[in-house]
Order: sequence, then structure tokens, then C-alpha cells
Amino acid sequence: MIPQAAPARRIARFRAEIDAAVASVLGGDSYILGEAVESFERAFAEEAGAAHCVGVASGTDAIALGLRALGIGPGDEVIVPAMTFVGTAQAVLHCGALPRLVDVDPATRCIDVAAAAAAVGPHTAAIVPVHLFGHPAPMPALMELAGRHGLAVVEDCAQSHGASLDGRPLGGFGHAAAYSFYPTKNLGCVGDGGAVATNDARLAARLRALRNYGFDGPERISRVCGFNSRLDAIQAAILSVLLPHLRAGNAERLEIAARYRAALPAAAGLALPPDHGACVYHQFAITHPERDRLAAHLAAAGIGTAVHYTPGLHRHPVFAEAASGPLPVTDALADTLLSLPIQPEIAAEAPEAVAAALGTFSA
Ligand SMILES: Cc1ncc(COP(=O)(O)O)c(C=O)c1O
Repeated sequence: MIPQAAPARRIARFRAEIDAAVASVLGGDSYILGEAVESFERAFAEEAGAAHCVGVASGTDAIALGLRALGIGPGDEVIVPAMTFVGTAQAVLHCGALPRLVDVDPATRCIDVAAAAAAVGPHTAAIVPVHLFGHPAPMPALMELAGRHGLAVVEDCAQSHGASLDGRPLGGFGHAAAYSFYPTKNLGCVGDGGAVATNDARLAARLRALRNYGFDGPERISRVCGFNSRLDAIQAAILSVLLPHLRAGNAERLEIAARYRAALPAAAGLALPPDHGACVYHQFAITHPERDRLAAHLAAAGIGTAVHYTPGLHRHPVFAEAASGPLPVTDALADTLLSLPIQPEIAAEAPEAVAAALGTFSA
């Protein structure tokens, strides 16, 4: 059986180093913040091409705290693509603001700039573009739109660690970038974790206060109402072990993607993901009009798949009021997307196995 994802196999690959890193945290007295978190923050800021990195408890918190630190709150609207994980838009609700869900581009599956422009209204205060499946959202056009209307931009980089666009690291276009270290991410820990990266020192200071009860210095005086949302020291130590392997892991994902492109037959209805050299393939998501029957056929052949994401966010009751209008591209993708195995530790045989199974799939 080839599973769709198996984070334990990545941990097993680097197990000896991870054990030593965890032992070092256990043997110290800084279980909350402290050196393990600070040294990961320094290393991750450098990898992300940002001046500052603030470790937080999850990717959802990273978006919510990033928006709050930029002043987003009640009465504000935030433009979010409807094809993403629910956490992207729930982070907006956590700030007391309202998500405004817009459609995505059928080719890139990322936010449609024209749809975002059409959704700007008097209460719009921010945009949260998502680099879905590791594919870059159209940042230059979005930054131009944001600049015209004075909007804040928090890039959702939960699926794009290490990706770039036109030679510039993703996450460096907006005012802040939010990362998730959920176990299956390109850089993932063994629990929840997240980070916000930014080039703005004042924003970073606000984020450090917000994640830790609003304390803004060693005197531990609380000036604003903050949260308990800190990256765990053990997770930070594990992430420091895995970070130097991120680029090699992304390169392996690119290779597996290229092998899928070479192996998969031009079968009726099958469409491959966009071919962008800088994509880091958090997922290799094909589309097929008979997605569920194809998933069952692949499962019978011993190949695990997953659906990211169905339904579109506007179809979740929690976002019932949030759609900017009909979202036909999101609806069509929600019915047809299917993520094939791409994690390097499990997908070595996957392209040829999927191709063989597709050969016996009767349309
Ligand atoms: C695109 C996207 N945004 C936000 C999140 C939320 O991250 P977390 O699960 O760490 O809260 C995730 C992943 O889980 C995600 O894939």
C-alpha cells in the first residue's frame, strides 16, 4: 500500500538527530520559548528570506495573529480564496473580522486577482492569498491591488515552505507570511506549530507580544490583550533538525511531480496540476470528473489519495454569509480535485503505480 501521507516515515529518516535534539530540550529548563525556539526562529527567518520570524502555536494562529498585528479587527473585511483549508478563513473570524470569499483561477487554483479586485468594498482591510499546494499565488498583481486600496496582505504559506516566485521567496511579498508546521507539511513537526515571518521590526515586536499575553518586555507588563500561542520548544528543536533538509525534500517533490507528468496517460478527463518550476508540490493534485470512482479504483490498487478540499469554504455553514457571489471555479474544483502521493518518503514508486492503475480505469 502506498499511503497518501505518512509523516512518521519522515521522522524515521532523521530519527537519531531528532532524538538528540529532543533530549537536549528535556535536559534543559526552557520548555517554553527559550533557546530552542529562538534558534529555530533565526534559522527559519534566514531560510524564508525574512528579517524576523515569530514562532506560534499553529498556522491558523499565525494568520490570525498576523492580521491582528496589522490592526485587523471588528468591522473589517478580509478577502480570502474559497478554495483553501478552513483554517485560512477561520483565522479571520478569530480577529472579529469577516472573510469575503472569492473564486480562484482554474489554471493555478490560487486566488483570482480580478475576483479579488471586484470584492474590494468600503470595509475591505486585508487580503490573505494562499499558495495552494505549493503553487505561487499571483503576488505582484495582488500587491498592486493592495497598494491601490491601502490593504494589508498576509500570505498564507502553510503549503509553500521554500517556494519562490521570479526568484523572490514567497512570503516576502506581503506585510507578513504565515506558516504551518502541521506534521504533513513540507516542513512539519510532531504536533501543532506555526510561525509568522516579516521584514517589519515593529510588526515582529507586536507579534511577540500577542503570542505571549501581550507582554512587551522582560518586565512582563501586559499592555494589550494577547494569547497563549507559542511555538513549543520540543517542536522547535525537531523543526531545527528538519529545516536543513527542506530544500532537498522540495527538490525530491519536484522530481516526483516530473515523473507523474511523464508517466500519467492522456486519459479522458484527467488534468494535471499547473507546471510551475518554482512550485514546491505540497500536493500533486489532479482533477478528474469521476474523482470519487477514481479514488476508489486507486485505493483498490493499493494507492492512497486525499481530497483537498471539498466543499469550497462558502459551502461550510460557518462561512454562510461570506461568499462574494457564485464561486463556480471553486465548486468545480471541490468536485474534481484528487491529491496523489508526493511525500518523498512514500512516493518513490507512486508515479508508475498510479499510471498502471489508470490504465485499467474504465471511463
Ligand atoms: C492553506 C492552509 N492554511 C492554514 C492552515 C492551518 O494550519 P494549522 O493546521 O497549523 O492551524 C493549513 C493547514 O493545516 C493550510 O493548509
